[in-house]
Amino acid sequence: MTDTSVYAPSAEFVKHAHVKGMEGYRALYQRSLDHPEEFWGELAEKELFWFEKWSSVFEWHPPFVKWFAGGKTNAAYNCLDRHLTTPRKNKVAIVWEGEPGEQRLISYQELHRLVCRFANVLKGRGLKTGDRVIIYMGMVPELPVAMLACARLGIIHSVIFGGFSAEALKTRIQDLNAQAVVTADGAWRRGKEVRLKDAVDEALEECPTVRDVIVLRRTASGVSMQPGRDHWWHDLEEGISEQCPAESLSSEQPLYVLYTSGTTGRPKGIVHTTGGYLLQAVTGMKWVFDLRDEDIYWCAADIGWVTGHTYIVYGPLAAGATTMIYEGAPDFPQPDRWWRLIEKYRVNTLYASPTAIRAFIRHGDQWPNGHDLSSLRLLGSVGEPINPAAWEWYHRVIGKERCPIVDTWWQTETGSTMIAPMPGAVPLKPGSGTLPMPGVVPDIVDLHGKPVAANQEGFLIIRRPWPGIARTIWGDPERYKQQYWDRIPGVYMTGDAARRDEDGYYWILGRVDDVMNVSGHRLSTMELESALVRHPAVAEAAVVGKPHEITGQAVACFVTLKRGDWNHEEVAEDLRKWVAKEIGGFARPEQIRFTDALPKTRSGKIMRRLLREIVTTNAVTGDVTTLEDLSVVTRLAAQHEED
Ligand code: WT7
Repeated sequence: MTDTSVYAPSAEFVKHAHVKGMEGYRALYQRSLDHPEEFWGELAEKELFWFEKWSSVFEWHPPFVKWFAGGKTNAAYNCLDRHLTTPRKNKVAIVWEGEPGEQRLISYQELHRLVCRFANVLKGRGLKTGDRVIIYMGMVPELPVAMLACARLGIIHSVIFGGFSAEALKTRIQDLNAQAVVTADGAWRRGKEVRLKDAVDEALEECPTVRDVIVLRRTASGVSMQPGRDHWWHDLEEGISEQCPAESLSSEQPLYVLYTSGTTGRPKGIVHTTGGYLLQAVTGMKWVFDLRDEDIYWCAADIGWVTGHTYIVYGPLAAGATTMIYEGAPDFPQPDRWWRLIEKYRVNTLYASPTAIRAFIRHGDQWPNGHDLSSLRLLGSVGEPINPAAWEWYHRVIGKERCPIVDTWWQTETGSTMIAPMPGAVPLKPGSGTLPMPGVVPDIVDLHGKPVAANQEGFLIIRRPWPGIARTIWGDPERYKQQYWDRIPGVYMTGDAARRDEDGYYWILGRVDDVMNVSGHRLSTMELESALVRHPAVAEAAVVGKPHEITGQAVACFVTLKRGDWNHEEVAEDLRKWVAKEIGGFARPEQIRFTDALPKTRSGKIMRRLLREIVTTNAVTGDVTTLEDLSVVTRLAAQHEED
């Protein structure tokens, strides 16, 4: 955190940038604060298509907000149809490579056709505006096709990351009372098949609302199909019409629900709506990713997380970009797969997580060095704090000291990037997300909401609503209010600790609530704990994040067993499998410690901060000690807990 090196944008980069120099940034930012209605209203008119114009830019009834109320639009129309009257109709919308090596280049015109066909399939199953469809697939082009087909009809989609287990899938389907599931027989991951349809079958044993399951054939490995309920995608498309007009929908029509972990065992269904979300997604493509029409843009996240929703699908397609999707693992068949892809498709922008970058550092420089990466001109980082050492490596070995790195801070709830540099304007400091985006008014405060001085750590909050903010939690507006707006009345509580330096740059320190960040994926300690105590051998469990050299944090569990003669090694192994079954393989604990008792307050609350200290001071390796100032986070978390 003491790193003070500053990287100003090169003259060459500034020359072509959408926003040039700090004056450019400051003018944009200032205007967004002084005249928010004009600022966003003009952008909405310029950047999006509307069937009917809105009557107000925003209406703020804390904590609920509406953007472009009265306006009628459609996300799929914005991502597809409006490009068809321009030369973009023949542009590649999606570059896709399967893990086994197949390649597909899908033009905007072709994508439109695929989406219309599938939208007609959904219609044919009786699905309509406001219904909920679960999408549980791997990273194949049909995944964005299914999302856009839902959006076209105003069906609310909920993409469940393919790494989630049947159990996790079930709770999400039930929370949404979904009518249908779109899935695939399987997905390829590191040469092995992930059996998606099997997981769906298991989940649906307890999901009576689901009438239809539509199955894409991807791996062709053989799955069971339940007559009446299950249908092959290709069978339903047979003879289907390719005409399907986009519905004219309210700007505030829910576009999707995306589940994320909260501070209780129950995941939160974050609701995003249409007009405001899309506007911020599309403007960010220019401001942060400095998008040019000729770019091959690659966000290497999974579409199952918000990064993929906003920066693989909605943002790039609404902006008319070429967005690349790679199906499989970064190290398959060898650790140079990503660099091969960049060389082959002449990728210009790479947006990735610090965890991926640290894993590549571990594999060694020979893998990227064996490939021509000269097409790259911009790099991005997202999901967790990037430690300066990883930043420097990314800059030197991947960007050849030529490419700015945009470190983008945001959340599932914020919808798009909030604190991030405009690469032709803002000088970079490794490890800092730099400055707020237009319309975003962050601050760092103490628990009473009082701003703290420069360089003091505090709670990161946001003072005004922005177009892409989550509108509510599905079925639970009260939880939305309590979780984000009540702790410090009237401001949005991010759950992160941060500090702001003398130049106004933000430095994110990590979560202060019971949320962990493993490989840039959010995991709830409570969700893990309730999974563990469901195991027959477990009496009590406490879970904390432990600093980890590659994944940022890893899951560490303290477990008290029921009375009995246990073989600890066997139980630990069994618990790892159990967690994978209850939540998903990515949540598998790295460390399990058995203990006779857990430290508790007098009122019986587990003192996780003590456990955090134990796992932190005990076994820290490598240079990740600079990743987060854990003593700070631990101290703030303690205040948060005790308040
Ligand atoms: C949490 C949100 C943003 C999409 C992916 C994660 C952490 C995110 C950064 C960053 C430091 C970051 C925060 C945040 N985070 N980006 N650039 N620097 N921390 O979305 O699962 O909703 O998690 O990820 O702690 O609160 P998410």
